[in-house]
Amino acid sequence: MNTKIKKAVIPVAGLGTRFLPATKVIPKELLPIVDKPSVQYIVEEAVASGIEEIILVTGRGKQSIMDYFDYAPELENILEKREKFDLLNQIKKPAELANFFTVWQSRPLGLGHAILCAEDVVGDEPFLVCLPDEVLDAENPSSKELIDAYAKYKSSIIGLQQVEKERVNLYGIVAALPVTDRCFEITNLIEKPNAEEAPSNLSIVGRYVLNPKIFKCLRRVTPGINGEIQLTDALNLLLKKEKIYGQEISGTRYDTGDKLGFLKANLAFGLKREEFREELKNFVQNLGRSL
Ligand code: G1P
Repeated sequence: MNTKIKKAVIPVAGLGTRFLPATKVIPKELLPIVDKPSVQYIVEEAVASGIEEIILVTGRGKQSIMDYFDYAPELENILEKREKFDLLNQIKKPAELANFFTVWQSRPLGLGHAILCAEDVVGDEPFLVCLPDEVLDAENPSSKELIDAYAKYKSSIIGLQQVEKERVNLYGIVAALPVTDRCFEITNLIEKPNAEEAPSNLSIVGRYVLNPKIFKCLRRVTPGINGEIQLTDALNLLLKKEKIYGQEISGTRYDTGDKLGFLKANLAFGLKREEFREELKNFVQNLGRSL
């Protein structure tokens, strides 16, 4: 089995119900953080982590995501004629980030089902999964932290971050034994537990390096919370066969599939941009004072 991680699966077929009404016609993955769709941040993180092939699991109403990662000859010609070379480079960049593949998820049966749809394109090798709702602002690419840890442990490994007790019901939560400072051996996983059931405050961040054996588990798993095929439940089956690790990953996590998380991401990434920083900072400070 090839153990170099060169493929990333990004499920983009989600309905985006948390972001209605905008997502009635706009895929949530294309909502921009400043001027780039959130999914581009995810693809860039994967590529900066050594990924060469991006597998988008897509579905109805999501064609514009594929268009975004393709060339746009008419627009490119116009920008070239107008000598807008900076913009020209910016619109060509998405298509040049990696080799893109798409697979179709014909029904919204859950995250686990979306990952299973990618089985034939992934084949028999470990792969990265990046969930597009979680944009991570980190000095070193978060996916690389996991890929490096995978090289050490040679077992599936999940990105983790601590969350407040009131928020455990929004995430997959793990029970785990510490191995090093930031690495854990996972002993149980529960998808969206309530505060009383949660075995810890270590939540699953939407980054995973998975052994291809996960596909067999995904085929066996029955619908879990919300009636969906859950990746977390399949990981629990995998755990019966082999070790799974968790790595606390650094960086600030923004849930861009959520309205408030999206607003926060736009402010944070906007403030990082030289051309907006001063004015945006003053604007936010003045807004704060007038409340
Ligand atoms: C998914 C996973 C969950 C994880 C979360 C991270 O849930 O099922 O375990 O903690 O992503 O964003 P979702 O947010 O898609 O419901």
